[in-house]
Amino acid sequence: MSKKITAAITAVGGFVPEDRLTNFDLEKLVDTNDEWIRTRTGISERRILKGEGKATSDLVVPAVKELCDKRGIDPMEIDCLIVGTVTADMLFPSTANIACDKLGAKNAWGFDVSAACSGFLYSLTLGASLIESGRYKKVVVCGADKMSAIVDYSDRATCIIFGDGAGAVLLEPDEDGYGIQDSLLKSDGSGCNFLHMKAGGSLRPSTIETVTAKQHYIYQEGQPVFKFAVKGMADVSAELLERNSLTGDDIAWLVPHQANLRIIDATANRMGLPKEKVMINIQKYGNTTAGTIPLCLWEWEKQLKKGDNLVLAAFGGGFTWGATLVKWAY
Ligand code: UT7
Repeated sequence: MSKKITAAITAVGGFVPEDRLTNFDLEKLVDTNDEWIRTRTGISERRILKGEGKATSDLVVPAVKELCDKRGIDPMEIDCLIVGTVTADMLFPSTANIACDKLGAKNAWGFDVSAACSGFLYSLTLGASLIESGRYKKVVVCGADKMSAIVDYSDRATCIIFGDGAGAVLLEPDEDGYGIQDSLLKSDGSGCNFLHMKAGGSLRPSTIETVTAKQHYIYQEGQPVFKFAVKGMADVSAELLERNSLTGDDIAWLVPHQANLRIIDATANRMGLPKEKVMINIQKYGNTTAGTIPLCLWEWEKQLKKGDNLVLAAFGGGFTWGATLVKWAY
């Protein structure tokens, strides 16, 4: 009898642009200060993709290239590329399409997933299903956002949080039980009121008026989002542990979406995890939306051991949230 196929993560790639935007730089743009930003969010600086003609696909491409180099494969071997993003290069075609072209991934099909900060987890779950179906052998899942394209740098409530970056993982079939074990994904469209972009979609197409009214930037009501995020991320992570009969002791790493250090702490506490088991790089990169979780995997890759149980957890615009249990494969 053939064994059950799981989707193992077999390589990780990442990319953050060189340019840094520090809290001190922001002090010059808006009425804020380094101390407030660090204590309220945990962020010290973020990376910004600069340059004419640079878009989210330019974050995706180096991340995927690195992953291919590490695994020793050619982009031509990729079957499918899924990109979680809310800052697609264009409304259409998909960033995945554009990135495949730039990568020379001529045998791949691909698409974007719009689930804001949960974009990587939604995409990972989809990618895992493609592998588990037996039809695909190499699926690349990328979380990438050029948030600087939709941040209003005169709005101190949002410009302090977001940064640009991308991370990617390669999924391949495994018959020994490694890889994506379980995923619990949730959404609640009534949360749209608190976090969205007002114009540029079919509801309110772009006009001179929408541009003048600054409706092409992120609109966020921080406090309600914060409250929902703390509860949502902690609850879903606890539920995932429970339904897999695990406790915090069984988990090697929590890989949380990096939105706010206080949200991360609340989730770790709820799971009974000490700080040493929590991946945190928000101080360096801020909130890269779909990029945060794979960028953590990218940075911690060398510390991960075969068989480690990881819980990946996210909360974001939509609202969308979820948690995924991964058994590390290498
Ligand atoms: O990843 C996507 C999902 N997004 C999130 O998870 C974000 C969740 N929300 C948050 O992380 C937090 O709500 C923020 C970091 C956005 C804001 O922190 P907060 O602790 O909720 O601040 P607040 O909005 O309650 O504002 C507290 C005070 C206010 O002043 P008063 O009214 O108390 O005098 C604000 O005007 O801080 C003021 N304030 C600032 N002061 C200095 C707001 N922004 C700033 C700022 N610098 N940048």
